[in-house]
Amino acid sequence: MKCKWWMSAVGYQIYPRTYFDSNNDGIGDLKGIIQKLDYIHELGVNLIWIGPFYKSPMDDNGYDVSDFFDVDPVFGTLDDARELISEAHKRDIKVVLDLVLNHTSDEHAWFMESRSSIDNPKRDYYIWQKGKVDQDGTLLPPNNWGSFFEGSAWNYDEQTNEYYMKIFSNKMPDLNWDNPKLREEMYHVARYWLDLGVDGFRVDAIAHLARDLSFEDSPLPLTIHGVAPDWSKFSNRPELFTYINEFHDKVLSQYDCMTVGEVGGGAKLEAGLGYAAYDARAFNMAFNFDHCWEVNRVLDPETNKMKNVTRVKDLKRIFNYWIEGMNQKGWLPQYWLNHDHPRVISQYGDPVHYHRESGSMLGSVLLTLPGTPFIYNGEEIGMTNVDYTDVNDFNDVWVKNNVKKLLEHDTMENVMDQLRRTSRDNARTPMQWSSAPYAGFSKVKPVQKEISNYTEVNVEKQLSESNSILKAYQKLIHLRRFSEYSDVLVFGQFELVQAEHEDVFAYDRYNENKRVRIIANFRPFTVKFDTPEGKIIFTNYERDYSVGLELKPFEVIIIELKHD
Ligand code: GLC
Ligand code: CA
Repeated sequence: MKCKWWMSAVGYQIYPRTYFDSNNDGIGDLKGIIQKLDYIHELGVNLIWIGPFYKSPMDDNGYDVSDFFDVDPVFGTLDDARELISEAHKRDIKVVLDLVLNHTSDEHAWFMESRSSIDNPKRDYYIWQKGKVDQDGTLLPPNNWGSFFEGSAWNYDEQTNEYYMKIFSNKMPDLNWDNPKLREEMYHVARYWLDLGVDGFRVDAIAHLARDLSFEDSPLPLTIHGVAPDWSKFSNRPELFTYINEFHDKVLSQYDCMTVGEVGGGAKLEAGLGYAAYDARAFNMAFNFDHCWEVNRVLDPETNKMKNVTRVKDLKRIFNYWIEGMNQKGWLPQYWLNHDHPRVISQYGDPVHYHRESGSMLGSVLLTLPGTPFIYNGEEIGMTNVDYTDVNDFNDVWVKNNVKKLLEHDTMENVMDQLRRTSRDNARTPMQWSSAPYAGFSKVKPVQKEISNYTEVNVEKQLSESNSILKAYQKLIHLRRFSEYSDVLVFGQFELVQAEHEDVFAYDRYNENKRVRIIANFRPFTVKFDTPEGKIIFTNYERDYSVGLELKPFEVIIIELKHD
């Protein structure tokens, strides 16, 4: 393993739409990000991943690209993108873009050509199939495969009386990676941005580039939408790796860039190694979603409401599976959430009773695990899930497409409760900069409604408090990047401590010089744990440390053990 710059980096994901609105039209923009670069620099991160800002009709907030070579006017101009890259570089911050290879918008010029006739030269840039006709003569999709965002994986197109494949929304037709010409086009996109100065990519939805080209029906039982949710038909298929290897050889290997593929759910270690082993000729890292949903819903006898209880042992098992499995073979990214997941403090912490404690505990774990950590904007101040009471406040394409169907099967109250816990909008609310109206994000009503706790939870306030979550993140990032523990925290080995403990996530990071133990209580109550002798490096409670003390709710202790 050769040491690369991105191994010791700390990443920060920015959702441009709701980060900062510089021109007060209610939508975040590139100039807004530029204005916040000093804040980002002060936080201590040196790598930003910015969500897509290409031209887009915004069906899926920019993941539906209509022109890969330009910036959407709501975000700014190409010159703003150039300025953002150069201003970030001045502050020693690398810039990573979101590269969307799996699909385009249906408003992309290629698709408009492709759909225009069966013999159009771009026909084969997308995946077209004839429908099936049932006994009554009704036209049906080519097979029963389901999509992630709405119903079938196919959408009918009148112009040529065929269906195109789309595993996300109807407005996001899938590209045909089986076509070498299309692959060259996508490599051209990647080179264009690398030549413009970006330092790499987070590669979107990468697990899906290859499909089962027999297009046979899935044997799985159908959902309420009448489709088979059989992701194996278009996820992690072996042919995919030949495309990725080609992308690596023709493009990525020619640049000193960093790539992290979004692999999603369901990939096992073997696939993980295919995506991100050092010698895989693929990506540098791969995000999976395995650790994102480790909660049970249980009835809280005190409030008589359902609440989350974290499956701490499962969480440890999952982290350990990937860390052990990739050990010496490849590098991992670490993260608690991204723009597709609930807020981590609402998922695994307790924002109501232990906001500061649970927020800083979660940050401590993220920033001391092996691999490159990625903080999601707002996580550093403990932003929470939404408090929306009107279903129309949700914007996500998934919600828009599915709410009607959900309401046929459940009450509004239950559906709202589910959305407030699981919807992707939870992570997409305006960044809470201050207690000014609209959370200081904009001077006008934002595209996405703000959360009302911004008067309490905001950057300005936390910058002024010495024990805030934000200050904890700053300290922990510093510890990882610049302290005497940097080497052991970035490159040291990992070992779970008391893996069977039900409540505490504890592990050692060690090398030949140092051994550091991270002890994190994931419960809102006091817990017994064998706290050892050593030198305290970081805690989130101000109190005297002694061997054998009980851990307070969400307490975290980072301690250097005597080296043997
Ligand atoms: C990825 C993105 C998600 C998007 C999808 C389709 O999963 O993270 O936000 O909707 O791909 O591009
Ligand atoms: Ca704006």
